[in-house]
Amino acid sequence: MCGIVGILGKADVASRLVEGLARLEYRGYDSAGIAVADGGRVELRRAVGKLDNLRVAVDAHAPRGRVGIGHTRWATYGAATEANAHPHRFGAVTLVHNGIIENHAALRDEVEARGARLTSQTDSEIIAAQLEYLLRRARTLDEAFIALLDKLVGSYALAVVFEGYPDLMFVARNGSPLAIGYGEMEADGSAEMFVGSDALALAPFTGQVSYLEDGDWAVIRPDRVQVFDRAGRGVTRDVVSITGVLPAADKGPWPHFMRKEIEEQPESLARLLGALVDPAAGSLKPILPGIDFASADRIVLIACGTAHYACLLASYWIEEIARLPVEVDIASEYRYRNRPLTGREIVIAVSQSGETADTLSALKALAGRVAARVAVVNVATSSIAREADAILDILAGPEIGVASTKAYSGQAMGLLAIALKAARDRGMLSDDRLGEILADLVSVPRIVAETLCGSDDIERLARRLSPARDMFFLGRGVNHPMALEAALKMKEISYIHAEAYPAGELKHGPIALIDTGTPVVVFENVDDLNEKTASNVAEVAARGADVVRIGPSGACDLVTPAAGPVGSLFANAVVAQLLSYFVALEKGTDVDQPRNLAKSVTVE
Ligand code: F6R
Repeated sequence: MCGIVGILGKADVASRLVEGLARLEYRGYDSAGIAVADGGRVELRRAVGKLDNLRVAVDAHAPRGRVGIGHTRWATYGAATEANAHPHRFGAVTLVHNGIIENHAALRDEVEARGARLTSQTDSEIIAAQLEYLLRRARTLDEAFIALLDKLVGSYALAVVFEGYPDLMFVARNGSPLAIGYGEMEADGSAEMFVGSDALALAPFTGQVSYLEDGDWAVIRPDRVQVFDRAGRGVTRDVVSITGVLPAADKGPWPHFMRKEIEEQPESLARLLGALVDPAAGSLKPILPGIDFASADRIVLIACGTAHYACLLASYWIEEIARLPVEVDIASEYRYRNRPLTGREIVIAVSQSGETADTLSALKALAGRVAARVAVVNVATSSIAREADAILDILAGPEIGVASTKAYSGQAMGLLAIALKAARDRGMLSDDRLGEILADLVSVPRIVAETLCGSDDIERLARRLSPARDMFFLGRGVNHPMALEAALKMKEISYIHAEAYPAGELKHGPIALIDTGTPVVVFENVDDLNEKTASNVAEVAARGADVVRIGPSGACDLVTPAAGPVGSLFANAVVAQLLSYFVALEKGTDVDQPRNLAKSVTVE
């Protein structure tokens, strides 16, 4: 939520700030802005809506200056207006903020009691006003900044420039990510420094970054950076190379990132498979070193949204294969639930971005209270990855489309491998059973590729379903989480109201909503639950529903490739993704940047 970029450069930075923001737009696209400091003066450009609007404003009249900050916003306090767009200036202070200030009301009262006039409804402008006040009273900028951070309760990544202080930027991090990028030092001693919400934003400028820890703040000049921890002690944060880690984030031949990412799945899943399985030896590769499930009494899976549905899927696999009880919870709920813990739980946090605030704070709250904390992430340098005791990288590559697709399938595959490891650690897996599951798992990239070849049929189906106002998705067993994920995809990019139920649950109430023509999409698999599902299908068909059965059986309306239970599930996932994609195209919605959403949710 909200992306931040900062540059202390050798030449004008306006266009590079916009370039950095373009790589952060997935974090929010309600408005965007930059501030550029040219010696004494700081100039702002801000625009409501997509980054292109800001680009037009900057191209029309580019602010000059070698130091600047930029922001792309996902609105929290205050609607998406120009006045609420960042950067916010108050007197000599101009800043950008990502996060939420929880004591904003008290801080606003203080500012207004001093007679100061705020021009936005944001919590961020209040930070600027507080800092400006402290600055007038403090002896140094450091003193004022420390006093400011002492006052703030909540989450923030901040980047601040000051009028009258060229070549200087203050930054701070608490709960929202912030990375510092180190530019090359030239022979003449000139150098550049960068700041960004993630390494993706910094990749065009530098290959060397360090990540601030919570509580850190830093004073940055073009040629050096000083980092301090919460206690004000100077600290060193490791500089890591991101060169080659981040492939170019472009759409290739596809019209949308979402489509590109759906189509990439045979490749991304094959890459992950290569890290998980040794097909020649017919064995699982060593994963999660140091984690032993033999003495665990429970696995706790925590995540949000699509990642939560991948966890629900995994709970079926872990319980069935490893015979270990599993608890699955939405991270924002788990964090504040007072669950009894034995200390023998292994907690697995699943997150594509590795930055989701709800998941991160739940993981942090469990430090020292459970046997181990594992992260299943798509960004190995992310906050969640760094917080965990061990990580499994799903190797999906950057996922830019707001609707998660290749990360979901990667999470599902990674979690199945963890189920196999847990079963092996606990002596629950015979060689025959392992061989059977691995054969099914190894077929997944091929099954996914074959399913993608049937995209024309899925597009035709989407045309039929797209006029619907409401849709229902049903499944039993692993196809219940599948149905939940399909409904979420449909809601978020096509704006059609969609609900998912276990197939047997509809008759306990929701069947009252079924009317003539209501689409009911049913996911099936190669298992003996299909007969039970068939009865539920008959119940809705008898009430006039437009039933669409998806699965490997020849009796289905959309027949997926012949596969084992695991392969069939991944085929269903691809159908669900393409179905929502094509429905969204029919409806003309903004597929990659659907309304009200952002890719990385870094506020609780
Ligand atoms: C939906 C979607 C979201 C994310 C959720 C968690 O398509 O992408 O529901 O799954 O916000 O995000 P991560 O996985 O980054 O923690």
